[in-house]
Amino acid sequence: MSFPSRRGAIVTNTTVGSLYAERVAQAFANKGFTLSVIVIPDGEEYKTLSTVEYIYHELLRLNLDRKSFLLALGGGVITDITGFVASTFLRGIDYYQIPTSLLAQVDSSIGGKTGVNLEEGKNLVGTFYQPKGVWIDLSFLSTLPEREYREGLSEVLKAAFLEGGDFLALVEREKEVIMARDSLILEETVVRAVDFKRKIVEEDEREHGRRSILNYGHTIGHALEKALGYGVLRHGEAVALGMIGEAFLARTMGIETKRVLETQKAILDSFGLPTSLSLFCDHSTFCSALLKDKKKEAGKVRFVLLKDFGQPCVGIEVEEEKITEVISFLQGGKQ
Ligand SMILES: NC(=O)c1ccc[n+]([C@@H]2O[C@H](COP(=O)([O-])OP(=O)(O)OC[C@H]3O[C@@H](n4cnc5c(N)ncnc54)[C@H](O)[C@@H]3O)[C@@H](O)[C@H]2O)c1
Ligand SMILES: [Zn+2]
Repeated sequence: MSFPSRRGAIVTNTTVGSLYAERVAQAFANKGFTLSVIVIPDGEEYKTLSTVEYIYHELLRLNLDRKSFLLALGGGVITDITGFVASTFLRGIDYYQIPTSLLAQVDSSIGGKTGVNLEEGKNLVGTFYQPKGVWIDLSFLSTLPEREYREGLSEVLKAAFLEGGDFLALVEREKEVIMARDSLILEETVVRAVDFKRKIVEEDEREHGRRSILNYGHTIGHALEKALGYGVLRHGEAVALGMIGEAFLARTMGIETKRVLETQKAILDSFGLPTSLSLFCDHSTFCSALLKDKKKEAGKVRFVLLKDFGQPCVGIEVEEEKITEVISFLQGGKQ
């Protein structure tokens, strides 16, 4: 791996920083690098422009210049915000990532999307900016809390449903071992999920076409997150419910050709992810969250739906009436 110079800064948060920053800085020091550590508070609510500004000021205080580099050490919040800072500080400096959550390892560290949230919504400001390198080390996962581990698995399962074949067979067969974070099988699973996303992003970096299949489960998932209030469901939990809701749509619209809905439900259940909604969710709040979110793109709500595992169809328009049935279905009211 090449570096622009021997000087840079690790950007991390209080939780991950206290566990790993010293160790990572020391490993780099042993190779002749001098890395300062910039620590921000832990939480999605700090993925903001004011945190970005704080980091800019720290970089200047540390006398970092255009040849310096950043190293993101943390989950998706840290990799997104560090990428954004790197793409804009002094018109762009190199950055590298050490993703420490499963979600960041299989999802946010691949594809070069950086960003921060605004009051009006998540990820509304950002850039496409590829890191110069990403190190994925599964030993970091030993300290990841269970709920965060499971939500990362939700994105892994999404990739397996979209790819089908051997990858789907692997997650079905090895669920206990994967849940137990067994390293060899987990390594194979993570590699497959990373390769799946990497290949798609290489074909369509700017999301003009094929990359949109990665939104499977996310159209309904995002609307649920928003309608219930951010933080009630973790993102991966909302995506699990979103995949169930979208499989229900594929069935009721006659797109599904095999029993995707039942198989998906069994797999998600076995990984401890939610497949039904016990919380109250107001239909009209849900629909307006969904319509508002997507109208900006195309004027209509379009979905990625599965004909079968490994066979996603993109750009499927769904009428509002059908969408309202999803909530009843998720709440167990209607089959
Ligand atoms: N850029 C992209 O393409 C992309 C894709 C998906 C998600 N994202 C973004 O990623 C973010 C979500 O990522 P996330 O789920 O990693 O959230 P996160 O960064 O908030 O991490 C989740 C929690 O786990 C902690 N944590 C991380 N690694 C740990 C470890 N090894 N040991 C102990 N605790 C650890 C964090 O401190 C945090 O409390 C969102 O902001 C989302 O928008 C971006
Ligand atoms: Zn996601």
